[in-house]
Amino acid sequence: MSLENQTAVVTGAGRGIGRAIALAFAGAGADVVCISRTEANSQSVADEVAALGRKSWAVAVDVSDTAAVEAAVAKILEDTGGINILVNNAGVTRDGLLMRMSEADWDTVLDTNLKGAFTLTKAFARPLRKADNARIINIASVVGITGNAGQVNYAASKAGLIGFTKSVAREFAKSGLTVNAIAPGFIATDMTDELSDKVKDAIKANIPMGELGAVDDIAGAALYLASPAARYVTGQVLTVDGGMVM
Ligand SMILES: NC(=O)c1ccc[n+]([C@@H]2O[C@H](COP(=O)([O-])OP(=O)(O)OC[C@H]3O[C@@H](n4cnc5c(N)ncnc54)[C@H](O)[C@@H]3O)[C@@H](O)[C@H]2O)c1
Repeated sequence: MSLENQTAVVTGAGRGIGRAIALAFAGAGADVVCISRTEANSQSVADEVAALGRKSWAVAVDVSDTAAVEAAVAKILEDTGGINILVNNAGVTRDGLLMRMSEADWDTVLDTNLKGAFTLTKAFARPLRKADNARIINIASVVGITGNAGQVNYAASKAGLIGFTKSVAREFAKSGLTVNAIAPGFIATDMTDELSDKVKDAIKANIPMGELGAVDDIAGAALYLASPAARYVTGQVLTVDGGMVM
């Protein structure tokens, strides 16, 4: 699953799943643009990519800020000379029951997880449609398929991302650009670290494989979807969840 001569953009690359994807892509031979909210986080992952012998670029941008994303994309295309893989991974949670959820928490989650993917995809669409081995990979979630009490905003954003993935896949299929989603189950990252041990035990009881996944489980799936091996796969949602959804 070589990614030699490929240039990937990974959003939310500063830590967790995004960082693991950036490093897996670099390990497979890709150059990587590391997007994160802060200069320090994007630079530290870009340095790790460079240490693997690949070209890297650090870009600090908030994916929910449309004007900032459009300016960043223009600069990325100028600096890299073109990209062929986009991974929309940046995401946030603002959990709470519907009756107590604020409009601000709804908007933050939808603006980051769903509108962010729309803005990045639209801004990169033209060069991606012309590129060889072009790929868009959206990081959704199993809760976008099953729903989850206490996460109406997050589950709606991820269900929206799945509908977005399938629709863009249909629009771009003729040009050879594939668009797929990965739906992780519960993966051990800073995001899930916030959960109490009691909640984590309850989650594990619902996972047929009995344990949380690792960031490399998601990076492996992303590597497959980005690689030439997945040339004929588009509009799919690949659940990587220890068997939670089957
Ligand atoms: N960890 C899990 O169990 C799990 C499960 C299902 C889906 N996911 C999804 O995987 C993705 C990565 O999650 P993670 O667990 O690595 O989370 P994380 O919180 O460790 O990392 C998220 C990254 O996204 C970045 N980010 C957040 N908002 C951003 C914004 N507005 N602009 C730019 N960057 C932004 C953060 O800075 C961070 O680097 C998310 O989309 C998340 O919803 C995670």
